[in-house]
Amino acid sequence: CGIVAIVGHTPVAPLIVDALKRLEYRGYDSAGVATIERGELGRRRAEGKLVNLERRLQDEPLAGTIGIGHTRWATHGVPNETNAHPHFSNGVAIVHNGIIENFAELRDELKKDGYEFASQTDTEVVAHLVSREVARGASPTEAAHRALKRLQGAFALAIMFKGDEDLIVGARNGPPLAVGHGEGEMFLGSDAIALAPFTNAITYLEDGDWAVVRRNEVAIYDIDGNKVERKRQQSLGTSYMVDKGNHRHFMEKEIHEQPEVISHTLAHYLDFANGTSKPLDLPFDFARIDRLAISACGTAYLSGLIGKYWFERFARLPVDIDIASEFRYREMPLSKNAAALFISQSGETADTLASLRYCRSQGLLIGAVVNVRESTIARESDVTLPTLAGPEIGVASTKAFTCQLSVLASLALKAAEARGTVSAAEAKAMVRQLAEAPRFASQVLKLDAQIEKVARELSHYKHVLYLGRDTNFPLAMEGALKLKEISYIHAEGYAAGELKHGPIALIDENMPVIVIAPHDRIFEKTVSNMQEVAARGGKIILITDAKGAAHSTVNTLETIVLPDVPEIIAPIVYALPIQMLAYFTAVFMGTDVDQPRNLAKSVTVE
Ligand code: G6P
Repeated sequence: CGIVAIVGHTPVAPLIVDALKRLEYRGYDSAGVATIERGELGRRRAEGKLVNLERRLQDEPLAGTIGIGHTRWATHGVPNETNAHPHFSNGVAIVHNGIIENFAELRDELKKDGYEFASQTDTEVVAHLVSREVARGASPTEAAHRALKRLQGAFALAIMFKGDEDLIVGARNGPPLAVGHGEGEMFLGSDAIALAPFTNAITYLEDGDWAVVRRNEVAIYDIDGNKVERKRQQSLGTSYMVDKGNHRHFMEKEIHEQPEVISHTLAHYLDFANGTSKPLDLPFDFARIDRLAISACGTAYLSGLIGKYWFERFARLPVDIDIASEFRYREMPLSKNAAALFISQSGETADTLASLRYCRSQGLLIGAVVNVRESTIARESDVTLPTLAGPEIGVASTKAFTCQLSVLASLALKAAEARGTVSAAEAKAMVRQLAEAPRFASQVLKLDAQIEKVARELSHYKHVLYLGRDTNFPLAMEGALKLKEISYIHAEGYAAGELKHGPIALIDENMPVIVIAPHDRIFEKTVSNMQEVAARGGKIILITDAKGAAHSTVNTLETIVLPDVPEIIAPIVYALPIQMLAYFTAVFMGTDVDQPRNLAKSVTVE
């Protein structure tokens, strides 16, 4: 969910809605805004995307120079108007991001005290808790403080009181919340980008902090009520709303940006002139560590899985990789000589952050591959290894993924250099090969007409299987993930060799199989798997290169022939056709490509 709050001097509702648009990546199930107008709380809420709230506000505008707003990704309670934030309780208005874990217990207690619940959300307990403290005689800030002490779980909150038009209380424990400093006006927002049109002077709250925000001053306290100092910084957020240019969707634009952003990212890590990796201020020495623990979620996890192949193959460095939500509770023994690497586009994913904190508690040194440099994960790591993808708006990750791969390949090379597992000549060759990735990516983009044709065919099926070996196995999973995320067609990604251990039972003419197989060391093995599919009436779509197309002995429904690329960049280059395939299929299906149902770009709850 995304939060915006303003104590201003002009009507704030339109400003809040504009800022919420920049936060829509955090969820778009429903949205709402509340202000105080002539001493009374007013509220407009709407199910669905922000445009619905905008329409509501056009019909029934809200005045008031103080207000809070919210765009929601549902956790407790279906995404309807009643469950949309802000929630009210006797003059207290609240917006919330996160999950209150002890909400059931608090709700029972409040019900016994006569509080009635209008929604199914966990948030409403916070509104009632605060208003009960006010009813018991506490000042607004003291009421907020007392209520915060009762909360367990993860939350970012903004609280407004009908009796005080110069006060918003913000609180953070988990999901990010930033204070924006203005001249005679103050702001709260889930990230600096939301606040960029208003101010670049930002203070990030830390976990356990709560802030008393007034027009002319901000005071920050810890959970015990002690005043704390938090650094004010200049945010890098730009006030420009990123636009789609000539593209139909952000996803399409972001797919097309890949040659450029991959090139920026590689140039950040590689010295093309000398054929080496560039110096990096790493807190650990690749030559001395004995393992690397990688953890991430979603597409970022799949980039890490490809990274594992590279670190192990090129640097002989064993990698333990986990989905962050598993890692954080798995209690795995960590070697004292291990380093940890976290991968996250947003830098805010709750499970990834929790895994980072676990590694920190175990004394590991931490690197973070992130796209948002000011994010929590970036700030809490020992070294930030940026992807230079630029803002990624489409919920389904594309350019962030190939930039993560670019960073991981460069890091694997760095590790190999440090560990002496590649010669200078081999390193030089790798750098030269990596430098070619952007050029090949551009060539692949030109295959759009053929890929669109295949997508039209795919859109007629209900199930699709993706197969690949080696680094193409994680890529098969990424292809399946992309397709299901945006087209809602059920898809699975499997290691080609594992086909015969289960998924082969599903093969018939109704389940097309997409095989990702450049002509590499193990191409012939994959051809055997294709034979197994063909023998059972399965339809094959082969993504390969010219040699692969020539050597494949099976009949395919379609063969997409990519340029012949060096093995190390194959995952980067082959990522593009699978993204394009998912994209065009979704367009044929008529789904909401950039904001697919039920998903959110940044997931700050576990
Ligand atoms: C969400 C997004 C995915 C993303 C995952 C991890 O589920 O929809 O596209 O891969 O979170 O996000 P992160 O920001 O940590 O990379």
